[in-house]
Order: sequence, then structure tokens, then C-alpha cells
Amino acid sequence: MERFILTGASRGIGAALAGALARPGRELWLSARESPALTEAADRAVAVGAAVQVRPADQARLDEVERLARDLLEVPGPVTLILGAGLWPHRCEHVEGGLERAFVVNHLAPVLLAARLLAAGQVTRVFFIGAGLMIKGRFDEDRTPAGRDFSSWRTYCDTKLCQALAAQHLAGLYPDVDFGVTHPGVVRTDLGARPGVLGGVLRLVKRKWETPEACAARLASVVETPRWGDLGAAGWWFEKERQAWPAPADDAALRDRVWTITARLLDERGHGL
Ligand SMILES: NC(=O)c1ccc[n+]([C@@H]2O[C@H](COP(=O)([O-])OP(=O)(O)OC[C@H]3O[C@@H](n4cnc5c(N)ncnc54)[C@H](OP(=O)(O)O)[C@@H]3O)[C@@H](O)[C@H]2O)c1
Repeated sequence: MERFILTGASRGIGAALAGALARPGRELWLSARESPALTEAADRAVAVGAAVQVRPADQARLDEVERLARDLLEVPGPVTLILGAGLWPHRCEHVEGGLERAFVVNHLAPVLLAARLLAAGQVTRVFFIGAGLMIKGRFDEDRTPAGRDFSSWRTYCDTKLCQALAAQHLAGLYPDVDFGVTHPGVVRTDLGARPGVLGGVLRLVKRKWETPEACAARLASVVETPRWGDLGAAGWWFEKERQAWPAPADDAALRDRVWTITARLLDERGHGL
């Protein structure tokens, strides 16, 4: 039995990827916040012969991420962990002791979940659904975590950059595990949905974008690639092609800094790595 854990599995790219990976002989462990959409994604995967388990969790809450990690310890190895949950925030919202929501959901939560499962030893591959826009990201340790430098655009790029840098750090800590980070494409999903005129314009623009199903077919073939990275180093996949890490995601000093602050923020909240 091939096993996959997939977060962000209720909607958009994650739900479509669950569908694309589903087949007999595979077990999918699907997570997102509890919703009919998550149940429907699970039902679609079951309908094509996959074994499916649903484990809802709110990734904006680190205690729920810890609970999800504990729940997932029952998944027998070897298992592939695909971290797809994410958001493009349209306003600054604080969760988890003053931290900005996208910083938690896009960065701290997947890092915490991956770290817990890696420590337990059953995960052999970790695939982060990142974003090419990380190349526009920056990290200001005094401002980014709490959203003091918040802008919708900037915060999305910054949090995806932090995620990619942390993925590379984890790859160094677990050289026996295969790590990948991907830009999945430009895809017609709910990402960045917002009220008002801008939201309407965005909906119109997105009509020309790729469907989640088309993206997921390509992404599933990348997921099925036997190797994403090198020993101790995560690979960067731009859609279906492995590429060299772009700056600033190739900055070792920034990677170390992001990891130090990430570990400190988690530790201060009782979630030490
Ligand atoms: N769409 C694109 O063009 C594009 C481009 C580059 C990268 N990406 C990345 O692809 C990933 C999927 O995005 P998408 O476009 O498919 O967006 P989407 O349609 O908005 O789906 C986002 C997924 O993340 C989950 N999620 C969001 N907040 C969560 C929370 N607090 N707790 C648990 N799950 C949460 C959602 O589940 P619930 O809300 O149901 O809980 C949903 O399953 C993201 O990481 C995004 O950054 C997308």
C-alpha cells in the first residue's frame, strides 16, 4: 500500500491532487478544516478505489497542528507528506498569540507538522506546495511574523519564502528523507479571494487560468517522480521541471536566520522543535 498525507485537501489544487493521486492500492490521509468540501474530496477519492482517511485540523492553530501530528502517527510508514494548505491573505489578521495568519498557515504550521512527523520516522518524502512568488519575498524578523509589514502581496511572498527556506533546512536535518518544494502553476482556485471590486476583477482574471484538475494531473506526475531532491538538499520544482533554487531562496544566511526565528517562535508558544 502506498500512503500519502495531504493537507489543503478540501479545495483547489489540494482537492484536485487528491483526486489525481487516488487509485486502488493507495491510502490517502486528507486534511483541511472540517467542511462538506473535505468530505466530498474524500468521497471522490474513494469512488475511484483509494482507501481514504480524513483528519480535519485548523492549521492557523498550532495546538490543532500538534493534535493532527499525533493523529497521523498512526499512519504506517513509509508515507509521503504533501503540505498543500495555504492562503493569500487580503487583510492582516492575528492568530496564535499575535502572529499573522498567513505566517502561521503558510509557514509555521507546515514546518511544525513536518518536524513532528519526521521525528517519528515514518515519513520518507516531504513535498511542500510553495509558490514561485517567493522570489519577491523578504523576511524581517521583527515585523513579518506579527504582520507589522503586512501587505496582501508582500505577506504572501514573504511567508512562502520562509516556508521554502525552512523546507531546505529540514532537508539538511533529515538527509535520508527526500524533500521537494514546488511552484504548482497559475491556477483558478479560491486563493486570494476577497470581497469588493478587486475580488470581482480577480475572479474575471482567473477565468483564463489553468483549472485545478489540469494542474493536479501535472503535479501528480511530479509527486510520482522517484526523487525530488539530493541527499540532504530539497529540490525546487517549477511546475514539472526541476530547477536551481532562485535567489533569495538560495541564501544560506537567510535560511539559518529564518530557521532560528521559526524555532524560537514555536518554542515560545510551547511547540519546541
Ligand atoms: N492557485 C495558484 O495559482 C497557486 C500558485 C502558487 C502556489 N499555490 C499554492 O497552492 C496551495 C493550494 O492553494 P489553492 O490555490 O488550491 O488555494 P485554495 O483553493 O484557497 O485552497 C487552499 C487550501 O488550504 C486550506 N487551508 C487554508 N487555510 C487553512 C487552515 N487555517 N487550516 C487548514 N487548512 C487551510 C484550505 O482548506 P479549508 O479552507 O477548507 O480549511 C484549502 O484546502 C497553497 O499553498 C498556495 O500557496 C497556488
